[in-house]
Amino acid sequence: MKIKSLTLRIFINTMLVGVAVYFACAVIFIDSFYKYFENRIFSELENECDYLSLLTTFEGIKTDNRITVIDFHGKVIFDNKANPAEMENHASRSEFIEAMEKGSSKVSRYSSTMLQKNLYFAKRLENGTVLRVSCQQYTAGLLMFGLSQELLCLLVIALIISGLAAAALSKKITTSIEKIDFENPETNEIFSEFKPFIKRISDENFEKKEREEIRRQFSANVSHELKTPLTSISGFAEIMKSGSVDEKTMLSFSEDIYNEAQRLILLVNDILKLSKLDEESITMEKEEICIEETCAETIKSLESYAKKKNVSLELENKTKEVSYIHGVPTVIQEMIFNLIENAIKYNKENGSVIVKIEKITLERDYMRLCVKDTGIGIAENQQERIFERFYRVDKSRSKDRQSNRTTGTGLGLSIVKHGAKYHNAKVSVKSKIGEGSEFSLMFPI
Ligand SMILES: Nc1ncnc2c1ncn2[C@@H]1O[C@H](COP(=O)(O)OP(=O)(O)O)[C@@H](O)[C@H]1O
Ligand SMILES: [Mg+2]
Repeated sequence: MKIKSLTLRIFINTMLVGVAVYFACAVIFIDSFYKYFENRIFSELENECDYLSLLTTFEGIKTDNRITVIDFHGKVIFDNKANPAEMENHASRSEFIEAMEKGSSKVSRYSSTMLQKNLYFAKRLENGTVLRVSCQQYTAGLLMFGLSQELLCLLVIALIISGLAAAALSKKITTSIEKIDFENPETNEIFSEFKPFIKRISDENFEKKEREEIRRQFSANVSHELKTPLTSISGFAEIMKSGSVDEKTMLSFSEDIYNEAQRLILLVNDILKLSKLDEESITMEKEEICIEETCAETIKSLESYAKKKNVSLELENKTKEVSYIHGVPTVIQEMIFNLIENAIKYNKENGSVIVKIEKITLERDYMRLCVKDTGIGIAENQQERIFERFYRVDKSRSKDRQSNRTTGTGLGLSIVKHGAKYHNAKVSVKSKIGEGSEFSLMFPI
């Protein structure tokens, strides 16, 4: 990760802005300053020209400006600063040409050194000659150079101010970040730009806490659930150890021990499956799975159980093609097994189970697997809870007497829910107490 300093970043940016504003101001200021003075000089030259044009002779006149008189051929006939005889013909000078044409002209020209400018005001007199008054002015560049010390001073001040502003701003930002209370995001007084960031962090915190709480509860439940069969096993064994039981009781006790041990195995297996699904770092190999085939196999393996309970099983494939989904085979098998097993287990005498596969299109295409039974049903207020770990509606039924099958662990539907999440599938349940239930899984394809 590249570490960046916020203070430095803000400092550089404010400084760049400061310097840019400074230069823009300096250029605009000097430019308008310069133009203003040029105009002033021109109007002074014009005044002087007007005044001079009233005189009959310029000999002995006292002025800092240069006065030149040019006849209409361009020949210089008078100049107060040079010998007119040595001066070249001025016919091609722009101020002369313009004055001849329009009566007067204002012209500025750089001198040969480029450091100074000559400003000319020329006027055609009634006798046909042109009177030209001129003076020199520093160029804008030179003016800037002359002011360089002051400008430099201002630049330093601008830099100091932007430095201070940057430091204050970044301090304000960092302290406001330090003060953020992620536990109680509503109480924060912060810049509105931080709101989404804080919301994300506090959401993450909340989810993390929730996950931790579920884990903590799960560990507590696991210990409890494992302890119950172990306590029974230990109790039966203790009585048998004392040698005071007859053969018949002994046999019955051994069967109980066997059943409890079976239950322990079931529990441990389910816990392992759930932990594996929970482990985010583990990625299981996904492949194309034919849902119809998996259902058919599962139904076959549960056939004898269904027969004992007098429940009929039926598989219906409504898709016209082969029903493939992309998933982890063992997890998908486990999910389907749990749903069909429940549909048989919580059914009534002479009930039925229909497993239906169909392709549906909502906002996208789904493979829908639906397990419908005519069983005892689930009350509305229990329908969400049955997906919780270890949750069972009727906790007293520790053994299914009819089939002599140890009843479940309360983890089956948790495995279904987590398996669905792993496959981005949706689980839903529709049920009416006494009439039956319908569980459906929708796998995106
Ligand atoms: N098809 C169903 N009909 C009625 N109740 C059901 C059905 N499936 C699940 N349940 C209820 O949901 C509870 C949780 O199911 P599950 O997680 O599979 O645990 P288990 O089957 O091990 O008891 C069951 O104990 C049962 O009360
Ligand atoms: Mg079950």
